[in-house]
Amino acid sequence: MQVIYGTEILDASDVRISPWDRGYQFGDGVYEVVRIYRGRMYAMDMHLNRLRYSLGELRIPVPEGVDRLEALAERLARDQGIDEGILYVQITRGVAKRTHAFPQEAQPVLVGYVEAVPRPLEEFERGITAILVPDVRWHRVDIKSLNLLGNVLAKQAAVERKAGEAIFIRGDVVTEGSSTNVFLVRDGVLVTHPTGHHILNGITRQIVIRLAKELGIPVQEEAFTPEALFAADELFLTSTIHEVTPIVQVDGREIADGRPGPVTRRLQEAFAATLP
Ligand code: PDD
Repeated sequence: MQVIYGTEILDASDVRISPWDRGYQFGDGVYEVVRIYRGRMYAMDMHLNRLRYSLGELRIPVPEGVDRLEALAERLARDQGIDEGILYVQITRGVAKRTHAFPQEAQPVLVGYVEAVPRPLEEFERGITAILVPDVRWHRVDIKSLNLLGNVLAKQAAVERKAGEAIFIRGDVVTEGSSTNVFLVRDGVLVTHPTGHHILNGITRQIVIRLAKELGIPVQEEAFTPEALFAADELFLTSTIHEVTPIVQVDGREIADGRPGPVTRRLQEAFAATLP
């Protein structure tokens, strides 16, 4: 299996990751997940912008490979016959003797691979269930960092309760899902948590907000409570992998009539129309 390493494509078995890589020791790095449709990277510019933002916030220099990422990923997708899938890319601060502060000598390490991932069409159609969990993550989740323990524990809790996603509650507001953004529809208005340090500004979130505005659906980027979530007319999540997925039940309670709603359907269709 071939992967991206720096500016090259190598056999995975030839890639040597150091035990002293700071990604491995501190989670000191960032990542992106990009959708592949028809063998091409979707919304690559937006993902690269966010990758640069995450690197900048952590003061990790942008490695050379970032400029070649799209071309290398498309080559891998072609070679591996991947039509529908994802690109995973991560960049760590690099390798150095273990010390918490930034070491002078570290050079960023970029690794990427592609993988076939079908569109979850059945979930788009039927919707999924979710649970609410406390948002125990740090206060800079706008950075797409490798520190994902809060997200991992939340998703594991969802799996153990046979739910499709875990939705975080910070104080008295709904922030986002363990790997998704969350929207509700109330009286025809789309509501989602505003950008800032407490959510990841999802690429799919940004695209869905733009599509809603184009369709004349009013959008409010305002935090909402768990009570508002349970009282919503419709609820859905967005992400690179899950696109626009209805949420039909939370903590065992149905949202409205427990079926995907009309605004969600319009946004699903509008999103699908943006695909190549
Ligand atoms: N997750 N919020 C969190 C915490 C996320 O991890 C993600 C993405 C999103 C949605 O962002 P986008 O629309 O850009 O995919 C929101 C990726 C897909 C993952 O970790 O697998």
